Amino acid sequence: MPKHSIEDLNRQFSKPGVKFESGNGGLTQISISTRAAVGEIYLHGAHVTGWNPAGTAPVLFMSGDSLFDAAKPIRGGVPVIFPWFGPRAGHAEHPMHGFARTSEWEVQSVEVGAQNQVDVVLSLPRTTAAQGLFPQPFEARFIASFGQTLSMTLEVRNTGEKPLQFEEALHTYFTLGDVKSSSVSGLAGVTYIDKVDQFARKVQDSAPIRITGETDRVYLATDATCVIDDPAQDRRIEVGKSGSGSTVVWNPWIAKAKGMADFGDEEWQRMICVETANAADDAVTLAPGKTHAMTARVRVLKS
Ligand code: BG6
Repeated sequence: MPKHSIEDLNRQFSKPGVKFESGNGGLTQISISTRAAVGEIYLHGAHVTGWNPAGTAPVLFMSGDSLFDAAKPIRGGVPVIFPWFGPRAGHAEHPMHGFARTSEWEVQSVEVGAQNQVDVVLSLPRTTAAQGLFPQPFEARFIASFGQTLSMTLEVRNTGEKPLQFEEALHTYFTLGDVKSSSVSGLAGVTYIDKVDQFARKVQDSAPIRITGETDRVYLATDATCVIDDPAQDRRIEVGKSGSGSTVVWNPWIAKAKGMADFGDEEWQRMICVETANAADDAVTLAPGKTHAMTARVRVLKS
């Protein structure tokens, strides 16, 4: 059950072009439609499930088979991954990719800015279940700005007395006309962990990345802006970032897609994840009292 009723949330936070609604699976969503952009974010996971600048086609991929269940992550959009990435080292029984994406976040504020962008600020409550998995004290906020650009920041503050170590990702799914004719540029010369080749470390060559099979790579120590070129939709999408060392590129391809219950068998053909992250060697160690912010900025480039 959501903590606050839709009526209460609308009374407190709605604005022209911004309303709280009961979304898929009865989960609470914020729907945004302004002169600048159309967007959607669920309180479950602080999960952005839609964004496009007004008058353009959707930029984010959402699986038609996504579950909308308070106990499960949503498939597509932008899962917020925290405080560990992938399976937790030494704790295979803990949830994959942490607990932020399956937690109910709380609304701090909703504002409409000068460029008609909508800024939504959510915070991650420290539930008993989450403390059981991760007892170190912290505060986390997710700030999403829906405008001509989609800007997303995960902000973590160490409220404890010892250094806080964590991994994180804004696991962004992009919708493509055709993955096989698409490419990702910006990562030439960057070392990556190839998760589909026994975690071998490799160096990206100078050609744009093309997807020709299952791809699951953690690019390390890079602050590069990436561009996704999708000729089938005659579109290029730029993914810029700050406070992030890792960029993850993921496409499940045929067999893995078939094995995923919440992902269509053919959907791998029209998506790619380019994730703004701090994972593996780039895990964050935060001194007591300090705050770390990681931001992803997505825009559609004019052709
Ligand atoms: C990627 C990981 O970020 O997320 C992959 O690198 C993983 O290894 C993928 O398969 C999807 O994870 P999940 O838990 O959402 O199915």
